[in-house]
Amino acid sequence: MKYFSNKKILITGAASGLGKELALLLASYSAKLVLIDINQEQLEHVKLTCEKNATEVQTFVVNLLDEAPLLEIRDNINLPDIIFANAGVGGVNPGFSFDNEIDSKIMGINYHGLVKTISPFIDGFVKRKSGQICGVSSLASMRGLPGASSYSASKAAVNNYLESIRMDLRAHNIFITTVLPGFIKTPMTDHDAFDMPLIQTANSSAEKILKAVSKRKRIYAFPKIMYWGTLLNRFMPSFIYDFLMTRISGQSKDLKPRIF
Ligand SMILES: NC(=O)c1ccc[n+]([C@@H]2O[C@H](COP(=O)([O-])OP(=O)(O)OC[C@H]3O[C@@H](n4cnc5c(N)ncnc54)[C@H](OP(=O)(O)O)[C@@H]3O)[C@@H](O)[C@H]2O)c1
Repeated sequence: MKYFSNKKILITGAASGLGKELALLLASYSAKLVLIDINQEQLEHVKLTCEKNATEVQTFVVNLLDEAPLLEIRDNINLPDIIFANAGVGGVNPGFSFDNEIDSKIMGINYHGLVKTISPFIDGFVKRKSGQICGVSSLASMRGLPGASSYSASKAAVNNYLESIRMDLRAHNIFITTVLPGFIKTPMTDHDAFDMPLIQTANSSAEKILKAVSKRKRIYAFPKIMYWGTLLNRFMPSFIYDFLMTRISGQSKDLKPRIF
């Protein structure tokens, strides 16, 4: 895809799953990559694979719960053209056994981690009068899902944050894309805590996301049939929603809080 050729692109969560597939595809499109993840060994492996194609690959091992390393990265790289704020964790945290620590971690990585990734670069984008940001949310953000209080809330926060800054930054020639995927086959979904209909490969998901970003779409949700279902859910009366979702989620009654 010519759109990404020679562009400097920063990706968080680049060592695994969707982030890794984005990195591999972008490398094949001759992008210059800045790859960030907490997992040093896997990040190194992705770097070596990307270097076969990419003109330039920089890697940084960072825990997105900490802000300081992200500020340091900003001061040590040239301003990126595009940021993929992709890193995140999945998890269950049911109301009947809610765990505050797990909640803080999911919110800390999925929401605050995304904000900490993006915000250091906004000043530079505004001064340069160009920039593009893609934030990875989830269809799980559209309404609270049974057992997924912290995850759904973290992604709903992501949607609203991205929507707000999208309007603030448009006049500065900065484009924001919020991506809402359904289930993707990655290490995050390698569990049996709940059913995962219409699960897609990480590679095809990354391809779709890159196409949407190249078209500067504001919102990109997929697969379409699942998106239409979640839109229908969104406007469904709560008593019907509760009745249906508790029956089709396929969760056991003794679900324990945990992070994936
Ligand atoms: N998979 C799905 O079905 C699905 C659906 C909708 C949305 N999403 C979203 O897609 C994004 C990518 O998910 P994925 O499925 O590709 O997951 P993944 O395979 O687990 O990849 C996520 C990557 O982020 C890293 N990471 C986790 N916590 C971090 C932290 N504190 N600092 C830096 N890096 C950290 C992980 O490292 P470790 O593995 O070492 O923890 C991992 O390398 C997430 O935002 C997720 O919420 C996924």
